[in-house]
Amino acid sequence: MNWLNDNVNALSLLGAAAILILSAFVIGKYLKQMKTDKGSGELAKENWDGIGEYKNALPIGWALSFVGTIVWAAWYFLAGYPLGSYSQLGEYNQEVKSFNTKFESKFANPDKATLMSMGEGVFLVQCAPCHGVTGDGMKAKAANLGKWGNEEAIVASIVNGAKGSDYPLGEMPAGLLDVDSAKAVAAYVMQEVSVVKKSKNPALVESGKALWATCAACHGEDGKGMAGSAPDLSVYGDAKFVVNVLGTGKKGFIGNMPKFNDGRLTNVQKAAVGAYVSSLAK
Ligand code: HEC
Ligand code: HEC
Repeated sequence: MNWLNDNVNALSLLGAAAILILSAFVIGKYLKQMKTDKGSGELAKENWDGIGEYKNALPIGWALSFVGTIVWAAWYFLAGYPLGSYSQLGEYNQEVKSFNTKFESKFANPDKATLMSMGEGVFLVQCAPCHGVTGDGMKAKAANLGKWGNEEAIVASIVNGAKGSDYPLGEMPAGLLDVDSAKAVAAYVMQEVSVVKKSKNPALVESGKALWATCAACHGEDGKGMAGSAPDLSVYGDAKFVVNVLGTGKKGFIGNMPKFNDGRLTNVQKAAVGAYVSSLAK
């Protein structure tokens, strides 16, 4: 009987036995008393089917414990657990908060290698279940991140349209431009609008600029998305664009990507996974 070696267990067992014995004794005593006792004193006026009630004073012990429980309940609710002082959940949240603060300050200015390895770690835990360990989207279950966030992907978005992130402007319709015009405007976006400042087709930038008005209608003249009405293309191709996707979530063809703004990732982790994901698309 190993568990009897534990003091607390042994004490609990002893207590339980004592309660059982006392209860048996008290129940026995009252059962006996009910058979022999005769009531006395003044009867109250009311009776129910001939059963009346004596006008006896409340037992003082009972009255005190009754008032005591009310006082205790008020104390417990106002100053004790529910509204004040200690809770395990509160303690847990407090600890998470303080560790996150420590984490954020430790990695306030991470170097590139740190950012990438942290980003890969976050990706494998939070994103790989849908996007696959290599980010290939697991046969179109989620976006193929190797083909996303680059110049070709802009062309694909223009030709196929884009939807699912619930921007105030709604959807971007498919077929806004033909493929050649889309390539030109994609070159312009990469070289002039986005912070990437580099296009794979620099020769197309000029003709792309002439077509930008089609896009500016929704994304704004500066491409910044008109205060959140459409995606901010000035960070397209950059980690920030991925972080913005984490804020909006996305409805896909098969499933939904949740919003990651519920505190499960710190800002440093978001920036890290953003940097990692934008490095997947070349
Ligand atoms: C529950 C599944 C799921 C998880 C988890 C998930 N995603 Fe997604 N993600 C999707 C789906 C579905 C799409 C939309 C694909 C489509 O358009 O068909 C998507 C799209 C994307 C896109 C492209 C957005 C666009 O505008 O086209 C990016 C970038 C992305 N996810 C990054 C991430 C990152 C980073 C994580 C981890 C922090 C992550 N996702 C976690 C399912 C998921
Ligand atoms: C009718 C308004 C509208 C027009 C016009 C428009 N867009 Fe969009 N665009 C949107 C919206 C809304 C989204 C976000 C869709 C979503 O993911 O929910 C978007 C998304 C995008 C994306 C991101 C796709 C992704 O993978 O997340 C790119 C890139 C883009 N637009 C480029 C362009 C370019 C270039 C043009 C000009 C040819 C253009 N857009 C014209 C409204 C528009």
